[in-house]
Amino acid sequence: MSTTKGGRTSKVTHLVLRQMKEQGERIAMLTAYDASFARLCDQAGTDVLLVGDSLGMVIQGGDNTLGVTMEHMIYHCRAVARGVSAATGRSMVVGDLPFMSYQTGLDEALRNAGRLIKEGEAEAVKLEGGAEYVPLVERMARIGIPVMGHIGLTPQSIHSLGGYRVQGREQAQADKLRSDAQALAEAGCFAIVLECVPKELAAEITASLPIPTIGIGAGPECDGQVLVLYDLLGMNEEFRPRFVKRYDNLALRVRTAIDSYISEVRDGEFPASEHSFGRDKEPRAAAQSAASPRVAAAGGVVSEIDPTAGLSCVPLHPLPGGKR
Ligand code: KIV
Repeated sequence: MSTTKGGRTSKVTHLVLRQMKEQGERIAMLTAYDASFARLCDQAGTDVLLVGDSLGMVIQGGDNTLGVTMEHMIYHCRAVARGVSAATGRSMVVGDLPFMSYQTGLDEALRNAGRLIKEGEAEAVKLEGGAEYVPLVERMARIGIPVMGHIGLTPQSIHSLGGYRVQGREQAQADKLRSDAQALAEAGCFAIVLECVPKELAAEITASLPIPTIGIGAGPECDGQVLVLYDLLGMNEEFRPRFVKRYDNLALRVRTAIDSYISEVRDGEFPASEHSFGRDKEPRAAAQSAASPRVAAAGGVVSEIDPTAGLSCVPLHPLPGGKR
């Protein structure tokens, strides 16, 4: 399997993730909710894109994830899958099963998992919970739906957990997490998210499983890491949990860009003549540059960042002989 500095270049599947664990290669997973960000995440080399039900908070502005529906998830999964296809097509797309889409019975759960694959164009599903979901995971694995587990802090159980807090500090809780992880792996999960568990426990679970663990607030010994994309980018200045590392401050940069736009509109500086159409047909080069932003947004143009912008460039990782 060929690799680049940014990671593997071939299509990521659950089999590749297993191989990565075996070879000690760390897995980089992020959430994504729309085609534009999915395209960028894929181009940057993200292994797995999770269309998380965290969209109930970061996209919809809710206090928790409980109001997210199957229709919301299908809509966002499809957008992300299309963003990935418009880029390199390498990232694996995983869709979250939302609250009450799988808790009410096997048949409904299977139907909803199938909808995320058929209508949402996801390649796998994720569900929160432990050993109680073994029969469901077994059925899904048998009918060809790859399942990612999620234990520890499971936000869909926020009311019974009594708040967003670290799970597994007490012995009984730690024992339950260990046996849940084992049961999910044996039932056929291809990976398990460990959310907000002590790093020692996460390391122990990781070492005991043949499948990869993906940590969020679970320390450095997991086989991979996941963050909510908007947290990594610093889109919300008020949200600063300990486990998030901010790699940018987009809140500030977005506000600054919008502020410049507003000033230029108010001062009559924008649009300038190069952003306007004349009555006469323009020379071809000018007409093309007027159209290029929309072509780029649709995934048709993949170019390096304008060096005049003073930003460093993340190279693209095209599939060998494949799509860009
Ligand atoms: O919904 C989500 O984004 C998640 C990740 C934080 C693991 O479940």
